Amino acid sequence: MSASPSPTLPATFSRTNPFASQLRENRPLNQKGSIKDTRHIVIELGSSGPTYQCGDSLGVLPRNPETLVREFTQKLGLHDDANLHETLATSAILNRVGKKFVKAVAEKAPGAAKDKLQAICADEKKLEEYVFDRDVVDVLQDAPGVHLEPSEIPGLLNKIAPRLYSIASSPDHSHGEVHLTVAVVQYSSHGRTKQGLASGYLANLPEKSSVPVYVQPTRHFHLPAPDRDIIMIGPGTGIAPFRAFLQHRSKHGHTGRNWLFFGDQHAKTDFLYGDEFAAAQKSGHLHKLSTAFSRDQAEKVYVQHRMEEEGAELWRWLEQGAYFYVCGDAKRMAKDVHAALLKIVSQHGGKTPEQAEEWVSVTFAKTEKRYLKDVY
Ligand SMILES: Cc1cc2nc3c(=O)[nH]c(=O)nc-3n(C[C@H](O)[C@H](O)[C@H](O)COP(=O)(O)OP(=O)(O)OC[C@H]3O[C@@H](n4cnc5c(N)ncnc54)[C@H](O)[C@@H]3O)c2cc1C
Ligand SMILES: NC(=O)c1ccc[n+]([C@@H]2O[C@H](COP(=O)([O-])OP(=O)(O)OC[C@H]3O[C@@H](n4cnc5c(N)ncnc54)[C@H](OP(=O)(O)O)[C@@H]3O)[C@@H](O)[C@H]2O)c1
Repeated sequence: MSASPSPTLPATFSRTNPFASQLRENRPLNQKGSIKDTRHIVIELGSSGPTYQCGDSLGVLPRNPETLVREFTQKLGLHDDANLHETLATSAILNRVGKKFVKAVAEKAPGAAKDKLQAICADEKKLEEYVFDRDVVDVLQDAPGVHLEPSEIPGLLNKIAPRLYSIASSPDHSHGEVHLTVAVVQYSSHGRTKQGLASGYLANLPEKSSVPVYVQPTRHFHLPAPDRDIIMIGPGTGIAPFRAFLQHRSKHGHTGRNWLFFGDQHAKTDFLYGDEFAAAQKSGHLHKLSTAFSRDQAEKVYVQHRMEEEGAELWRWLEQGAYFYVCGDAKRMAKDVHAALLKIVSQHGGKTPEQAEEWVSVTFAKTEKRYLKDVY
């Protein structure tokens, strides 16, 4: 006989047992005229939902848009199959197609489409290119009249995995809520508009919708002792955890200084939470704010350029024990910020490039654990 759960133990939520939260707010952060669509999402956890700390991420289990599921099943003549519809909506990736699905369609396509698709499948490079910007509907458009058995379809598609979002609120500031900063992935290809699965799901959700979520605790991205200084590098959606850090530090009266580097395309349209940071500067909770608006002038200006301009001051903060946090794009930004940090340590810390590398990678990052990244 299985024991019933103790009423005193808090429920644990995970990707396999998510909490049914409720969407409270879904508001654009970019102003009119921006080419970006970044949303401020507020999710209600209430008193029975998961708890979190600054630096944690929220796992979101997305659902495909009804229109995309319907377009797909209609093309296959299977739109009356409610079970298939629900299975596809909740568990199969439809917005990006995998090779297995293309190969199955190539096998069963009627007429000339079969030859065309099989030639693509026989050449790995062509197949990579073919799947790069197509969704499942694009593939069916290339094979009109193809028949697939309803029972085999889910097995031909990749499974949906939850997406993580850095939490943009402090639980002590926003009780029972979790805030996110979500960049909506959207693009057009093969004559159709595409959206990212989870970012599109969140962007299109009306208020009060139920959202399955869980908290993914961070292992390392924590705030330091209240009297320590922090430097935060957070361009674009990388700003999220630093909004949480600033809320937390001002709420609890932490005495350490806070220096934020933020960057995005244009000051006028893309200064995410700009009003909040101006207020935090005014109230003395944000001690320094350095911004890099990349497209407000002919030459690109990025956060790492601002770091270098303020290199002497930045080195002084590091010497005085400041912690250095980086959040956002892993592929380019975090690498360039790392290179700028090495340059500053070498130039202002009077070290050779080798000594700077040793100091940053060993002393600063590993021994003192003052170099912390949340990059994706
Ligand atoms: C720890 C962590 C924290 C994160 N925090 C945040 C956060 O705070 N805010 C945030 O917005 N994101 C954050 N992310 C990223 C987030 O988890 C998702 O990866 C992101 O929202 C995209 O997911 P999606 O489901 O919307 O897009 P998907 O459906 O996964 O689609 C994205 C993919 O679409 C394809 N694609 C994009 N543009 C094109 C194009 N023009 N042509 C062809 N293909 C294209 C690319 O292959 C891309 O990888 C974080 C990730 C991690 C791991
Ligand atoms: N690894 C990933 O898959 C990943 C990571 C982050 C973001 N994204 C996607 O990118 C889109 C927007 O993301 P976002 O809003 O967070 O902003 P972002 O695209 O990261 O851009 C924020 C700012 O960083 C600038 N930037 C570009 N390259 C940089 C570099 N090498 N070093 C420093 N700054 C650099 C951008 O300038 P310019 O645009 O003018 O060059 C912009 O001013 C979203 O669709 C998101 O999903 C994907």
